[in-house]
Amino acid sequence: MILDFIMTPIHGDQVVEEIRKFNKDLYILLLTGHKDLAPPLETIRRLDIQGYCEKSDKFDQLLLLIESGIKSIAQMNQIKKINEELSDTYEKLEQAYLESIQTLRYTVEAKDTYTRGHSDRVSEFSVLIGKYLGLPEPDLDTLRIGGLFHDIGKIGVPDAILQKDAKLTDDEYSQIKQHPNIGIHILSHAKIFQNILPIVEHHHERYDGKGYPSKLVGENIPYLARITSVADSFDAMSSKRSYRDSLPLDVIKEEFRKNKGTQFDPNISDVFLDILENHYDEIKEIQEQYSGIEDSDI
Ligand SMILES: [Fe+2]
Repeated sequence: MILDFIMTPIHGDQVVEEIRKFNKDLYILLLTGHKDLAPPLETIRRLDIQGYCEKSDKFDQLLLLIESGIKSIAQMNQIKKINEELSDTYEKLEQAYLESIQTLRYTVEAKDTYTRGHSDRVSEFSVLIGKYLGLPEPDLDTLRIGGLFHDIGKIGVPDAILQKDAKLTDDEYSQIKQHPNIGIHILSHAKIFQNILPIVEHHHERYDGKGYPSKLVGENIPYLARITSVADSFDAMSSKRSYRDSLPLDVIKEEFRKNKGTQFDPNISDVFLDILENHYDEIKEIQEQYSGIEDSDI
């Protein structure tokens, strides 16, 4: 669109102002015959006026402006088209990612439907703790997915051991302690799961270095794995077992107080205790949404 600056009853910049309310893309050239009355640069920028030209007897400058305007429009259209194609591809990729996750979930559930409630709750509790720690959205996403698959390695542990009611032998216990490494083995080949590998591998480390599989100490344990560990332990304590009822809330709180700095990261433990004290409704909501029988606290 080419329009004059000084016009009656309204000036060109006011016309553009109205147009921009419903069309941000229209390419606009503003002409003026009065050098002294040119609109300020700030107005030209604000209204996204692409070209400005002073009228004269020679049309060369105007012609050049129109030609470069036509080229710009063609380029803009091209960029728009590429952007549309890119966002289409991105949507397809995201869909494929979600489908992969779903397939993997079904695989885990086929092995043991009971772990479903546990993994969902650990996922949600981890995100809740992450939120109260003020973590950014990408970390919350990693916690969400990491919680869902933290125990995926149990696929590789025999059912007879996982579901054994009696006390485990040393050998059986050491087989169970393999599940973080088995989990890494399963997931490490897929790029989409790279972010959650530290959670899968290190959710059984202890702050004092007495955990497994790597006996990492304190802040050497990946931060998100330390969060998942708190969420995982809470769910173990607050779920029913074949050999005991769920632990009372007071006992659970005492466990977190007692074990901060030994089993748990002290700061994450404090934040979680604050959630238990002051935001227990959010915990309850998660438990009600994902209630299921869970029979393994390993
Ligand atoms: Fe585990």
